[in-house]
Formats: sequence, structure tokens, C-alpha cells
Amino acid sequence: MMSQTLREARKYEEVAEKSIRKEERPAFHLSARTGWMNDPNGFSFYGGVYHIFYQYHPYDCHWGPMHWGHAVSRDLLHWEYLPAALAPDEMYDRNGCFSGSALTLPDGRHLLMYTGVIREQQKNGGFRETQTQCLAVGDGTDYEKFEKNPVITAADLPEGCSAQDFRDPKIWQMADGTYRCVVGNRPADGTGQILLFSSPDGFSWKYEKVLVYNGDRFGKMWECPDFFPLGDKWVLLTSPQDMLPSGFEYHNGNGTLCLIGEFDEETETFTERRDQAVDYGIDFYAAQTILAPDGRRIMIGWMQNWDTCDFRAQNLSWFGQLSLPRELSIENGRLYQRPVRELEKLRRGRVEYTDVPISGERRLQGVSGRTVDMEITIGPQDGAPLYRKFAIRFAQNDRFWTSLSFHPGDSILKIDRKFSGSRRAIIHQRRCLVRSRDGRLKLRLILDRFSAEVFVNDGEQVLTAIVYTRQEADEISFYADGALRMDLVKYDLQGEA
Ligand code: FRU
Repeated sequence: MMSQTLREARKYEEVAEKSIRKEERPAFHLSARTGWMNDPNGFSFYGGVYHIFYQYHPYDCHWGPMHWGHAVSRDLLHWEYLPAALAPDEMYDRNGCFSGSALTLPDGRHLLMYTGVIREQQKNGGFRETQTQCLAVGDGTDYEKFEKNPVITAADLPEGCSAQDFRDPKIWQMADGTYRCVVGNRPADGTGQILLFSSPDGFSWKYEKVLVYNGDRFGKMWECPDFFPLGDKWVLLTSPQDMLPSGFEYHNGNGTLCLIGEFDEETETFTERRDQAVDYGIDFYAAQTILAPDGRRIMIGWMQNWDTCDFRAQNLSWFGQLSLPRELSIENGRLYQRPVRELEKLRRGRVEYTDVPISGERRLQGVSGRTVDMEITIGPQDGAPLYRKFAIRFAQNDRFWTSLSFHPGDSILKIDRKFSGSRRAIIHQRRCLVRSRDGRLKLRLILDRFSAEVFVNDGEQVLTAIVYTRQEADEISFYADGALRMDLVKYDLQGEA
């Protein structure tokens, strides 16, 4: 029986969605059906299509009691909304259905695992939250919560583990058919850790161990973990809160961390080797991956950051988008990300330039637009001294622009949306140390109506930022202090059918 709370949410979103024109949404990124969206949840392939759920507050463009929104896609770029899947309608999740994941059970049903949240008033007037792990089973549209919820509570945890910060289960199946999940938690020292649980059937769960302990290394509490093999390594993704910057890494306050290492499946021991930020831009958090049927490991994140949610468009009745789905690989010991290859099918109108000299400002015929896939390679000009600066301005008109600028002297690439139309004094710039020799650099810039994603050196680093500049600002220009040469291939991306 569907609860009143879920029925109301489904009725509300169906009506509210109609007031949003398709030009008011991104062309090929998923945005909240109406109201607020944060983390991607339950990213999975089920019944022949990709499913994505998301943290959702349909009634308002600000965070509130969390529901799970739902959408499906065949190509990861054109999404069709389905009715909201979960609402906070049980005693154990009455204050929110927080983040979680999904998989297909052997009997063909779709299993969702999520965090149930309750808030209780204390004698002193304050509130205390309790977070537990819960299940729902369904057919790809309608889901029923498991009668034995919650299936993991703080009573299952060793002493000192927080019952308040215990969330975001990511579930997967092992080769032997048993299940594992990782959950974010706060240990007694107030930092973060990732706990590992096991289950024979996906329904009854047992605590195994602390898979990774943060200590005073990367921020405090670790949210939204994911753990998976990639090439001959294993990767732990998690989104730490309260990070301190270190060199050019971890400038986001809340950002996404990648630990690369080895996993001994016998003893279930993870040995960390390397760490890096997942995204070097401004807006990326709470990433989740899927193993696609063709073997690709694909990651999608919330194209936003808790520190920058005050950067918003006043005239839109949705807030929150998901990033482009990105194919992952390990190369040169680092996590590489490339836009899913399905994006190439949206390309129209190829424009190509080779060996264009740039010195001062330059515009190129046919190079403009707000839904664009543009790859450029820059390098020194024969015989000329090394240029001092290169810049691209996009989403540009007489008044507004966002820029990417590169200084070969110190190998710093900067994204800057200060002049994109924002009236808020929040973070609008981010600098990133990139790999470049003799002023050579390769960039792929993907623009959608409200975002820019920059893939550096074939996906070695990525910078993501939300851009709300009015759509008529669609010029693109180039600039060099000194002289350089540039190759460019540009396409328009056609999102809607
Ligand atoms: C991460 C997060 C999760 C939590 C959810 C609540 O962005 O804080 O840890 O489950 O958002 O909406």
C-alpha cells in the first residue's frame, strides 16, 4: 500500500514539472524534476535501462525532508522522470530517506538500500538524529519498504561509532554471490571512517570491519562511499566534510576524495597507495559509480557543493543537477575520467581549425554556443618565446563571461565565473596544477546550459562548475599574452530529441 506521503509527492511533482519549460533545464544533464536535488542514489542498470535516483525535496528549491526522486535513461544523457520512489513515511525514516544504492536480486527484483533518519527532541530541548540502514524492494517503478527495517543499526557497531553520523550505504555483489556494503561513519575521534558489512542474501547484514580509517587526514566525516575494482587496483571514493586544502588538492571544503590501492579479497584488507581529488573545479560532490553491462565503470556526481549552494538562479523552480556520467580508468597511477562515449552521438556541426595562431584576442567563425563539445590543443609557436598566458572566455556577451586561463610558467589552470552574472560573494574561482611541458595543454570543454565541465589532458583532471549566465551570452573567444598555436574541434551538442 502506497503511503499518503508518497502519493502526495507523486501528485505534486507531476503537476509542478509542467510549469518548467525544457529550455529552462539543462539539455543533457539530469536536473531535479521540481524543487531540490542533491546526491545521486541507486545508480544501476535494471530492466534494460539505467536508473538513477536522487536526494529530493520536491516542494521547495531548498533541502528538506528527503525523498528519492527517480529517472531512467537508455544512453545516460536523455533522462525520463519516473514517479518519486521513496518518501519519509515510516517511523524509522520519518525525517528523511538519505542516500543509498541499488542492485538487482537473483529473483529479478530491484533492491534499494538507503539511510533512514529520525530526529528526536532531547530533555535539554536540543535534537538528536539517529541514522540506520534500510531496504526497499521494487519493480523499477514502485518500491515497498522491507518489513524488518532497519537492517543495520548502531547496535551492530563497535563502541565509539556514531549512531548519528552513519549513512550512505553502497551495496555490491561478490563473485561468490554474497553481498557487501560500505557505509560512512564517524568514530569517537570525530573524524571519519568507512565500515564494511556482509550479507548472504542482501537482507540480513553483519558488521565486518573498519575498511578505511580517516584520522586527521582528509577532512572529518566521510560521506557517500563507493568501493570497486578498476584495472588491477581498487578505488575508494568518498566525500569528506570539512577538508583542509593541501597544496593544490582538496580546495573544496566538502569535496570528493579518491584513494587508489590494493584489496586482498581473502582478508578483505584495503592497502592505500595514492590519494587525489576527484574534481578540481567548484561544483562536484557525492559521486557514485555503476558497472555498466559492457564492463565500463561509470561515475556520476552531484554537480554542486554544500559550500556553494547559495549560488543559484532566481528564476528557476528547480535546484540541483547531476554531472555528466564519466568513464573511469587508472592511468599513470591516477584516476582518469572521460565523458561517456554516448555523448558523441549528440554531436552536430563539426567545426575544425588547425594550427591557428593566437596572439591577443581572437574569435573563430562558427565557434560559439551554450551546448558545446570543444576540444583544443595548444602549444608554443615555432621560434617565438614561450607565451605568458592563454585564456578562453565562454558563455560570453558584452557584460558576462566565464573563463578558463592557463599560465604555462607555473602550469596553473584557472576556472573563473566571477563575471558570469552572480551577485553573491561566494567562491567563483579555482586554480588547478596541471601537467604541461613547453606550454602544451589539451582541454575538452563540455558546456550545457547551466554548467561547464573541463577535461584536462584526456581526463587526467576535471574541473566542474555551475554557470547560470543568461543563454543569449553564447560567445566564445580566445586570448594569448604572447604567441601560441591552437588546434580546435568543436561540435554543438543536441540534447532534446
Ligand atoms: C551528502 C549527504 C549525505 C546524506 C545526504 C542527505 O551530500 O549529506 O551524506 O545522505 O546528503 O541529503
